[in-house]
Amino acid sequence: MNPELEGFIQDLTIAVLTTVVLLALAVWSGVRRKRSAHYALVTLTFIALGIAIFVARRLSPYMSYDETGLWIQRIHFTFVGVTVLLVPVVVVSGAKLGKALMLADRGEEGHDAARHRASHRKVAWWTVAVLVITCVLGTAMTVAGLPA
Ligand code: HEM
Repeated sequence: MNPELEGFIQDLTIAVLTTVVLLALAVWSGVRRKRSAHYALVTLTFIALGIAIFVARRLSPYMSYDETGLWIQRIHFTFVGVTVLLVPVVVVSGAKLGKALMLADRGEEGHDAARHRASHRKVAWWTVAVLVITCVLGTAMTVAGLPA
């Protein structure tokens, strides 16, 4: 295999695995209510995801897909789009929950933390599910498109 391609595949594997591990830690910190750690881990997850997308784009010129590979590629790209759209949604729902919890900590009325928690939880789990499926499809696509 072309050494440059081999290098990109190694980088992509590291970036994707790092994203998945950080995502798991982000979920853990959210469930455990370790708020500061949660903010840091979520930020790192998004950075790792950005790096993974950047590296994946550098692989494209080396790839060639048959009919099946092209289908996996189409579905993968759709999931990438949904993931990107979910990022601002999870950020907004998390920020609303953070603000509500801050008001609750101060003993102020009308923060509605329970409602914001329920909606952040729902969006967060959708984000996790879509991101994991995107990673699986991306791996399948890479394997299908590698030069013989
Ligand atoms: C990949 C993105 C994210 C995932 C997977 C995620 C996941 C979670 C989960 C599972 C919880 C626990 C909910 C519960 O109590 O059942 C949580 C809590 C929380 N999340 Fe997120 N979250 C994400 C992004 C964010 C962002 C971007 C923010 C802020 C802008 C945020 C702020 C919070 C806050 C404030 C809590 C409550 C922590 C506490 O109770 O002290 N999250 N998150």
